[in-house]
Amino acid sequence: MKTSRWMEVVNLCLLSCLLGGGLAYGAEMLLRGFGAISTVQAFKEFGVVVSPHWQEYSEDFISFVNGVGRLYLPVIVGVPLVFLIHFVAIGPKGFEHRGRRISFYGLFTRFLHWMCALFFSLVVVSGLMVVFAKALGGGSLVLSARTIHLFCAYGFMVFAAPLFLIWVKDMFPAPYDIKWLLCGGYLSKRKVEVPAGKFNLGQKMWFWLAFVGGAVMFYTGYVVSGLSLPQAQIAGYVKIHLILGLFIVALFITHLYMSLFAVKGSLRSMISGYKWEEEVRVLHSRMLK
Ligand code: HEM
Repeated sequence: MKTSRWMEVVNLCLLSCLLGGGLAYGAEMLLRGFGAISTVQAFKEFGVVVSPHWQEYSEDFISFVNGVGRLYLPVIVGVPLVFLIHFVAIGPKGFEHRGRRISFYGLFTRFLHWMCALFFSLVVVSGLMVVFAKALGGGSLVLSARTIHLFCAYGFMVFAAPLFLIWVKDMFPAPYDIKWLLCGGYLSKRKVEVPAGKFNLGQKMWFWLAFVGGAVMFYTGYVVSGLSLPQAQIAGYVKIHLILGLFIVALFITHLYMSLFAVKGSLRSMISGYKWEEEVRVLHSRMLK
C-alpha cells in the first residue's frame, strides 16, 4: 500500500477519534450543568427499564431489553471496522475539482441539514450513553444524558420536518436504482457512470430511515418518556425504539463514512452547496441527462 494511503488511514482514525471524542466531550460538558445526584437515585428516577417493579412485571421484557442492548456494541464497533477495511482495501473515490460547478444544495437546505446533524448526533451519543448506562456507572451522568436525549429529539424534529419536505420529491425509488445496486453501489471504485438521479439508492435508504425512522423514534420515545400508558404498551414502544435505534445507528455511521471519507469533496458540497461536474456525471448521471 502506498505511503499516501497509510497517511489517509491515519487521518481517518484521527478524524474519527476527534469527532467521537469531541461529541463525547461536548456531551460531558453539557451534562455537568445538570448537577450531581447519587447513582441509586438516578436509576430510581430513570426507572422505566431498571426498576424492581419492571423486574416483577416481566423477566422476559428485561432480558429482551438487555439482549438488544448488547447488540449495540457490535454495531458501533463492527460497522466502523468494516468501513476501515473498505477504506484500506479500496479507498475513497476522488474526482477532478475543475470544470463546471453544479448547484446541489441551497443555503436553507444546508442550514437545515447541519441543524439536523447537530441534534441527531447528540441524540445518538446520549442514546448510546443510556444504552451503556451501567458501564458508565449510571448516576447523574446517565440521567442527564436522558434529558439531553429528549431535548435534542425535539430539536431534531423541528429542523427535520422542513428538510423532509424539501428532499422528499427526489427520494422515491426509481427503476434504475436496481441497476445502481447491481453495479456495486458505493463499493465500486471504478469511475464509470452509475445510474442515479440527484440521490442514489443508498442515499434514499438513509433518507427514509433517518426521517421516517427518526419520526417513529421520536414518537415511541415520547410515549415511553411520558409513562402514561399501561406497562404492556410501554414495553412494546421500548422494544420498537431499541430495535429501530440499532438500524438507525448503523446507517448513521454509514452516512458519516460515506460523506466524510468515502467520497472526496462530498463534505465540501454540503458546505458550499456545489459539486464538480465530474462527480455529478459519474455518481448522479441521470441528473445531467
Ligand atoms: C454529523 C453528522 C452529519 C454529517 C457530517 C453529514 C454530512 C453530510 C454530507 C457531507 C452530505 C452531502 C453528501 C453528498 O451529496 O455527497 C450529506 C447529505 C445528506 N445528509 Fe447528512 N450529515 C450528517 C447528519 C445527517 C443527519 C442527522 C441526517 C438526517 C436526518 C442527514 C441526512 C442527509 C441526507 C438525506 C443527505 C442527502 C443524501 C445523502 O447524501 O445521503 N445527515 N450529509
